[in-house]
Amino acid sequence: MRRTKVAAILKDTEYGKEVNIKGWVRTRRGNKFVNFIALNDGSSIHNLQIVADVSKFDESLIKRITTGSAISVVGTLSESAGGGQKVEVQANTIEILGDCNADEYPLQPKKHSLEFLREIAHLRFRTNTFGAITRVRHAMIFAVHKFFSEKGFYNIHTPIITASDAEGAGEMFRVTTMDVNNIPKTEEGKVDYSQDFFGKSTNLTVSGQLEGELAALAMSEIYTFGPTFRAENSNTARHLAEFWMIEPEMAFYDLNDNMDLAEEFTKYLLNYALENCSEDLEFLSNRQKEEEKNKKDEDRSMELIEKLKFVVDNDYVRLTYSEAIDILMNSKPHKKGKFQYPITGFGSDLQAEHERYLVEKHFKKPVILTDYPMSIKAFYMKQSEDGKTVRAMDVLFPQIGEIIGGSQREEDYNKLLERMRALDLPEEEMYWYLDTRRFGSVPHSGFGLGFERLMLFVTGMGNIRDVIPFPRTPKNAEF
Ligand code: 4AD
Ligand code: MG
Repeated sequence: MRRTKVAAILKDTEYGKEVNIKGWVRTRRGNKFVNFIALNDGSSIHNLQIVADVSKFDESLIKRITTGSAISVVGTLSESAGGGQKVEVQANTIEILGDCNADEYPLQPKKHSLEFLREIAHLRFRTNTFGAITRVRHAMIFAVHKFFSEKGFYNIHTPIITASDAEGAGEMFRVTTMDVNNIPKTEEGKVDYSQDFFGKSTNLTVSGQLEGELAALAMSEIYTFGPTFRAENSNTARHLAEFWMIEPEMAFYDLNDNMDLAEEFTKYLLNYALENCSEDLEFLSNRQKEEEKNKKDEDRSMELIEKLKFVVDNDYVRLTYSEAIDILMNSKPHKKGKFQYPITGFGSDLQAEHERYLVEKHFKKPVILTDYPMSIKAFYMKQSEDGKTVRAMDVLFPQIGEIIGGSQREEDYNKLLERMRALDLPEEEMYWYLDTRRFGSVPHSGFGLGFERLMLFVTGMGNIRDVIPFPRTPKNAEF
């Protein structure tokens, strides 16, 4: 008999038919006549109720149906008598696929803290919260590809191991096969990378953008969706050392086209979640309410589904960095000296506290900031006429701060080279990047969306470690 998944059974109304379900037991309760087993196989936030007439089964078998054990049930699909669920299955045969010793199993049928669940990340998929997050994450991955594919963008795999740190986006992780206890040295006493696997110093990539640009300048519109690595020692609820980034890159787009795409893309993803993940979002919304129930009203987040709809239905505010600085200089926290990093004027780098003030307190909407000072942005961004700013854009979201960073790119060979020299970047090693500006250069733009930052927003979770299955953070590479 073919197995049916729980999600499909829960929607089925062909009462009386025989079905086979396999899954993991969440709970078993009841009395000496009848037992109720809540079974979950990951396909739904809801469990399927299995009803077992105790007299039909060996007592020893029933005892082995404990929280965490895996079973296969053949039974009759029935309309449920009890409230809470529409259907249930009256068990005819039950087979134990895998026992689970209740005394040793860390996941008891009670509330566990998110911190505790991080320590048992190998088992946390079996909780309601991580089941929901895993399904939403999958839906978002799928929606990313659907969005771009329908627009005629091509997905490009960019290298994970690179020899350049052109981006300067963060500290890099070294990749080597050299024996760290016996590193080959040159005559001058420096590390001899010519003896390393690639014959040069290599790292894990911080971004696929530069290679993405090469593809865009032939294929017109491309996107990458890959893992990126940053060895920044920032132990925050918004930073990972290994995270996934989506980087579209488009020929013939200026900064306005770029902003339009970023807004359309993020709204599409949120809308996709609303339309395809409603049961999981409802669960996550209740989870968030429960978590925030002891907070003061003004510290509570907007209800999750309402929040997603609000972003989908409203225009993002667009303003320049300089305008944002004016707002911040006139803000209460600035005047009262409440910002941890004081704003001094044009040139100040914006910290999460400033971004969140703009989004959460001032505009109460997503914000796109443009035209940042050249000095605080990457070398490849298009220089403006004013000689001080670049055509950069950051998209800022409530609760998250920066969710997207991007820009129009400098297409002028001489200006790009001049900037690289000013920043002391290795122009010989970067010949391949510069070549695109020598051979048929065109205006082009792109951006990077941090996938886990998006996941934080969609799920309402507070810590980035809880929206990726196996987080990599300073001093933590377990599992
Ligand atoms: O702003 P970033 O550094 O931009 C780039 O890497 C560009 N190459 C993108 C481009 O134009 N193609 O990073 C982009 C986004 C950020 O806005 C943030 O959402 C996310 O990546 N991000 C992180 N997410 C989790 N953990 C970290 N340590 C992150 N660093 C950046
Ligand atoms: Mg950035």
